[in-house]
Amino acid sequence: MKKTIRLLILSIAISSTTFMGFTQASSLRPEASLYQRLGGYDAVVAVVNNLFPRLAGDKQLGRFWAHRGADGIAREKQLLIDFIANKAGGNLYYRGRDMKLVHKDMRISESDWRILMKHINATLDEFKLPDRERQDVIAFIESTKADMVELP
Ligand code: HEM
Repeated sequence: MKKTIRLLILSIAISSTTFMGFTQASSLRPEASLYQRLGGYDAVVAVVNNLFPRLAGDKQLGRFWAHRGADGIAREKQLLIDFIANKAGGNLYYRGRDMKLVHKDMRISESDWRILMKHINATLDEFKLPDRERQDVIAFIESTKADMVELP
C-alpha cells in the first residue's frame, strides 16, 4: 500500500516537472518588449537621428525648431530617445517633462500631425521595419496625439 502511494507521488512529481518544463519553455516565457524587437538602444538612436532632420527641415514643421541652438536640439533629441526607449519597454529612465506640458501652446494642428506621421512612416520605411513592430510604433505615437494636437 505504502509502495503504491510512493509510486503515485513520484509519478505526480515527474509529470508536474515535465509540465513546468514545458510551460517555462513556451507560454510562460515573457514576450520580448517592443524595445528588444526594435533592436534596443542603438536602433532607437538611429531612428531618431533619421527622423529629426526630416522634421526640422520640413517647410511647415520647421517653424517649431527654427532659431534653436545646437545644444537645445541635441538635448531634445536625447530626451526623445529616452522617452521612446522607456515607453517601448527599455530599461531607461526618462527625465524629461510630461508630453501635454511640453507641447502646450505650441499650437500643433491636425495638419502638422499628418506631416509628422508622413515623416515617421518614411523613416520606418527606410529601416524596413517588419509589419508588427511598425504597427506597434505607429499605435504608440498615435496614442500621444491627444496630448499634442491643439488646433483642428
Ligand atoms: C507635430 C508634432 C510635434 C511637434 C511639432 C513637436 C515639437 C516639439 C518641440 C518644439 C519640442 C521642444 C520643446 C522645448 O524645448 O521646450 C519638443 C519636445 C519634446 N517632444 Fe515633441 N513634438 C511633436 C510630437 C512629439 C511626439 C509624437 C513625441 C513622442 C511620442 C514627442 C516627444 C517629445 C519629447 C520627449 C520632448 C522633450 C521633452 C522635454 O524637453 O522635457 N513630440 N517637441
